Amino acid sequence: MSPTTSNRLTGQFALVTGSSSGIGAAVAVALAAHGAGVVVNYSRDAAGADKVVKIITDAGGQAFAVQADVSQEADVLAMFKQATDRFGTLHIVVANAGIQVDAPLLDMTLAQWQKVIDVNLTGQFLCLREAAREFTKRGPQPDISKALGKIICMSSVHEVIPWAGHVNYATSKGGIMQLMKTSAQELAPHKIRVNSIAPGAIATPINLTARDTPAEEKALLTLIPYNRVGDPADIGNLAAWLASDEADYITGQTIFMDGGMTLYPGFADNG
Ligand code: BGC
Repeated sequence: MSPTTSNRLTGQFALVTGSSSGIGAAVAVALAAHGAGVVVNYSRDAAGADKVVKIITDAGGQAFAVQADVSQEADVLAMFKQATDRFGTLHIVVANAGIQVDAPLLDMTLAQWQKVIDVNLTGQFLCLREAAREFTKRGPQPDISKALGKIICMSSVHEVIPWAGHVNYATSKGGIMQLMKTSAQELAPHKIRVNSIAPGAIATPINLTARDTPAEEKALLTLIPYNRVGDPADIGNLAAWLASDEADYITGQTIFMDGGMTLYPGFADNG
């Protein structure tokens, strides 16, 4: 993880859910590299969260870890309280925490369905609502940020690409699209920007089994015209920019960062 650095986010405080590993960790490190103080949320991986905090503080940044299961309302409220008690307020919330519990539709249990919807979709709703409440309670700080606050939802290419064997996951990401757009419409008059980042295949633990062997990696690359798996830092750098004043006129958008995965590569020499 080696993000670019700047003062784009200096004086701002951010909370990144699910940032003990993977894309969330890279986003936390990138926001800190651009000057933000960061709350590193984790659900179970305390050691991972501590490692991310250490990367940030060793580089001279501000960060601390908070445990919370984003699917639990009480946990989310307690996490926001800890964040604002320590930092005073928040300017950026990245609703990133997400899981996959894969099963064919014919075999999927209600528990498998519910778990993914609870974490990926309800978890983002709860964090988005608390973020908007904190931003409006705090009021404008135009010297620090043009917007009252910035919310970034971590979506996926699967908000538009159907994904057999992952109906719970794809449905959660499709839901995030309307959660983001409807909230963006509702919150724009408050000067709160809400956007999504939709990553493709990024090298993180969530898709390790799809890249484990050279044959699997080769098969995965047939879905990626740009011919490389994404780096978590790609997403971190985009999140830092999207949260900054340089992106102040962007709201209600999903930015796909996928090496062309949504370009229907199967049609390049077919159809
Ligand atoms: C999934 C990954 C997958 C990628 C592209 C992501 O949302 O979590 O497992 O590799 O989409 O299919």
